[in-house]
Amino acid sequence: MSQTSADSFKKLTAHCKEYGFIYQSSEIYDGLSAVYDYGPYGVLLKNNIKEYWWKSMVQMHENIVGLDAAIFMHPSTWKASGHVDAFNDPLVDNKDSKRRYRADQLIEGVMEKLEEKADKEVEKAKKRFGETFDEKLYRETNPRVSEYLQKAADINARMNEALRNGDMAALTALINELEIADPDTGSRNWTDVRMFNLMFNTQLGNIAGEEGKLYLRPETAQGIFVNFLNVQKTTRQKLPFGIAQIGKAFRNEIVARQFIFRMREFEQMEMQFFIKPGTQQEWYDYWKQFRLKWHLALGTSPDKLRFHDHENLAHYADAAVDIQFEFPFGFRELEGIHSRTDFDLTEHQKLSGKKLQYFDPETNENYVPYVVETSIGCDRMFLAMMGNALVEEAVGDNTDGEGNSRDVLKLHPALSPLKFAVMPLKRNEPGLVEKAKGIFNLLKFHFPGQYDDTGSIGKLYRRQDAIGTPFCITVDFESLENDTVTIRERDSMAQQRVSISALEGMIRERVDMARLFK
Ligand code: GAP
Repeated sequence: MSQTSADSFKKLTAHCKEYGFIYQSSEIYDGLSAVYDYGPYGVLLKNNIKEYWWKSMVQMHENIVGLDAAIFMHPSTWKASGHVDAFNDPLVDNKDSKRRYRADQLIEGVMEKLEEKADKEVEKAKKRFGETFDEKLYRETNPRVSEYLQKAADINARMNEALRNGDMAALTALINELEIADPDTGSRNWTDVRMFNLMFNTQLGNIAGEEGKLYLRPETAQGIFVNFLNVQKTTRQKLPFGIAQIGKAFRNEIVARQFIFRMREFEQMEMQFFIKPGTQQEWYDYWKQFRLKWHLALGTSPDKLRFHDHENLAHYADAAVDIQFEFPFGFRELEGIHSRTDFDLTEHQKLSGKKLQYFDPETNENYVPYVVETSIGCDRMFLAMMGNALVEEAVGDNTDGEGNSRDVLKLHPALSPLKFAVMPLKRNEPGLVEKAKGIFNLLKFHFPGQYDDTGSIGKLYRRQDAIGTPFCITVDFESLENDTVTIRERDSMAQQRVSISALEGMIRERVDMARLFK
């Protein structure tokens, strides 16, 4: 991560805490690593993200229904799904620092450095050649750039082959050959790489030993698979149809850094789309495009999003792609779209001995449906939206006495935690306070908002900007005479005088989520 990106990420995490979006879990006990709590504005933003997803997937599709399955499931679920045997990450310990790392991430770090070196060469050449510079040609033909990129590609190929074959010795050899040092201490004294299962487990109170071993679900998807027939029969859905679910998932991540990007307890929004075998390519393409549009509708720049095909497919998939977002630490997975074939239903069928098949009335056949899944981490989406929205902006003349810049959270208004704030011009004027509280009490039936008289108007505006409130309504002496107020729009800071009766409509026009689906 460059210094500028590191600084902006630090600023983002500090902002999340300072303004009540996210706190470290159990902070008074020095926190619990990679576990976070959502504060008053955080929970509102997170709920809005979930609502946007749920409405787009369930409410807008006649053939997608919802589910809320339990976190605990019969332990055989995880045997059938492959998670007991194959849900592993390669880990390596540094013998000197006693720190633990993911071997693939250490190796990826080397590749990233090589790519950065190539980028630096390109940047230098761009400056040297000016407008006539052909970047694509230069990347292909400059010997130094090609050398860096080729080396990165070779390392990538070797790493992927080792991961595919579960060849831990090859990963150990690669770490030693590349002379990878502990990023924190510089030591090269490594253990061998070994596999580590990411599932948390716990014990049923009344059954001792292996029999009573329970897992905290590492994905919500399995709750959907085991309920496939229940849902299909009770809702009389015909293929293709989907089941959507939002819920907690747990993974014992080896390296859990980067704030809420990689957590041990997190929330997923997943949808399994059950289809006729042979139609998986068509539906995979459909959901790729649909999900990308969902992100773009929020106003996220297309430059910040890209598809990235998986090179190492999970044990259940025959095709998989990530929608990556450009976080301050680079492009990383935000959402996955996976063609899961009939793997899960077939395995559950085998282990449970219960048929999980669909009777197709068109062909009079019974078969196990194929599945295309869309899976997005709610917390990662939260981080993406916060990172995208937070800007520091010059505000010109400092007439409000609050300085020449402001931190403003330019969230899409449909996602903003609060939709409005009402403030009296003077807090010691009973007439103004009463009028402002009256407006708050009127609007609170329609939108989440806030009455605030705890500072000067300039200060209150800054605070609402920092939490992303699209509208600030100021009540002044004229309001008492003619029932008008000043409404200030967050992004433009433009103010206009409007009648109190027009407020609800004006706010609704901007914050209504329905606009995102049209
Ligand atoms: N059911 C498929 C599945 O779970 P995944 O790619 O492992 O696929 C899906 O996870 C999404 O869940 C990811 O794209 C990411 O947004 C989120 N996610 C996964 N692990 C996470 C973690 N440790 N912390 C936060 N979000 C995570």
